[in-house]
Amino acid sequence: MASKTLQYFLFAITSHALIILTLQLCFLSNNQAAKHSYSFTHRSHHHRSGSGRHHSSSAFPNPKLHQAYIALQAWKKVIYSDPYNFTANWVGPSVCNYKGIYCAPPPHDPTVQVVAGIDLNRADIAGFLPEELGLLIDLSILHLNSNRFCGIVPQSLSNLTLLYEFDLSNNRFVGPFPHVVLSLPTLNYLDIRYNEFEGPLPPQLFSKKLDAIFVNNNRFTSVIPKNIGVNSASVLVIANNNFGGCLPPSIANLAETLEELLLINTSLSGCLPPEVGYLYKLKVLDVSFNNLVGPIPYSLAGLAHLEQLNLAHNMMSGIVPDGVCCLPNLANFTFSYNFFCEEEGICKNLSSKGIAFDDRRNCLPEKPLQRSNKVCQSVLEHPVECFEQHCSSGNGGDAVASVISAMPAAAPLLSPSNAPAYT
Ligand SMILES: *[C@@H]1O[C@H](CO)[C@@H](O)[C@H](O)[C@H]1NC(C)=O
Ligand SMILES: *[C@@H]1O[C@H](CO)[C@@H](O)[C@H](O)[C@H]1NC(C)=O
Ligand SMILES: *[C@@H]1O[C@H](CO)[C@@H](O)[C@H](O)[C@H]1NC(C)=O
Ligand SMILES: *[C@@H]1O[C@H](CO)[C@@H](O)[C@H](O)[C@H]1NC(C)=O
Ligand SMILES: *[C@@H]1O[C@H](CO)[C@@H](O)[C@H](O)[C@H]1NC(C)=O
Repeated sequence: MASKTLQYFLFAITSHALIILTLQLCFLSNNQAAKHSYSFTHRSHHHRSGSGRHHSSSAFPNPKLHQAYIALQAWKKVIYSDPYNFTANWVGPSVCNYKGIYCAPPPHDPTVQVVAGIDLNRADIAGFLPEELGLLIDLSILHLNSNRFCGIVPQSLSNLTLLYEFDLSNNRFVGPFPHVVLSLPTLNYLDIRYNEFEGPLPPQLFSKKLDAIFVNNNRFTSVIPKNIGVNSASVLVIANNNFGGCLPPSIANLAETLEELLLINTSLSGCLPPEVGYLYKLKVLDVSFNNLVGPIPYSLAGLAHLEQLNLAHNMMSGIVPDGVCCLPNLANFTFSYNFFCEEEGICKNLSSKGIAFDDRRNCLPEKPLQRSNKVCQSVLEHPVECFEQHCSSGNGGDAVASVISAMPAAAPLLSPSNAPAYT
């Protein structure tokens, strides 16, 4: 008889060292372990028990699975649409066989099975998260990407003290930032992108030891917290929110970890702080569609790993420095829709280095498709002094808003794809 156990399996995605906790099913038979990667296809189960029937606790192998049963049945009650019949087999006491539910022994007791993972990615389910989810105290992974869950994130999730990955992306959650996640001691991966959260981001978010933070495509407002650099993230995506203010120089504190910084369309104003150039591990820097002014900091010439640099659709001016164009790994340098007036050295001929570039709609005298002399002249007459820049929040960029016409093709990190899909 084959027995099924479930193990936690850690591996690193090489492109950005994001540690991802993945579930693997191990089927043990004839003393020979054959490993199969977890897949969405599931063995079909035939349950005779009626969906509404109450099961006494004696029907469960252990009290924790009984608690899980209570939680999952409460959840099923507030699911109003399940087009793929994902929860159709959520009946009876065998919760470990429910579709999308994965059991494993908890860290300190190898003898029992508990609900350790829930993966309802792309189930297109409409419903709520009930308070009873707080009964799933051994949950380590909760993936709800691409569903239609709405309402707020229940405070009872503070009970999930083993939660390591929490992915609510591409749903319809509302309300303020879900503060409950700040109390989760082992949380490593937080993805709440593509929802309708609003209000400020709490500064405490950036003092947690998270490897990946995705809060893009919500309705967050206010400013980017001053302590943004206190954490240890390798991926930070806060694009498509309405923050305003300047990028805090404390971003430099992420130098040891940060590889991808995406601040697209966040109403950033002021100059790009030179501290960005201290993020020496950075591979992707995208600050496009903001209200940034002033020059490209020379410090960016120190970003030896940089592959993608996007400054497009800002109000930056001055010289495009040779040091940036010479970066050894640069593959794409987009700086269209600014007011740059000179390209230094090799910047004039990026195609000779095989670098994809876009320098349209600047004030580059020798290049095609530039802004008019009149517009350029008025900008050149008002040079920006970065040390007296104003970092007020809100929309300083109405003039720029009218320039914004079409969004470039979404970067993979911005799409609401199945997390953590970016490789
Ligand atoms: C889900 O179940 C209903 C009712 O049993 C059925 O009509 C429908 O075709 C099923 N949908 C899928 C995608 O299996
Ligand atoms: C939190 O977990 C405890 C068990 O540790 C349980 O008694 C309690 O009901 C849970 N709270 C919620 C709101 O589910
Ligand atoms: C910028 O974000 C706002 C929401 O904050 C959105 O309405 C707008 O379409 C976005 N602009 C671009 C160019 O993506
Ligand atoms: C750019 O460099 C290439 C090859 O090095 C050369 O053929 C081309 O003429 C240069 N273009 C300009 C505008 O200097
Ligand atoms: C370069 O980056 C821009 C902005 O992200 C993108 O629109 C463009 O398609 C990229 N070009 C190439 C050749 O990858």
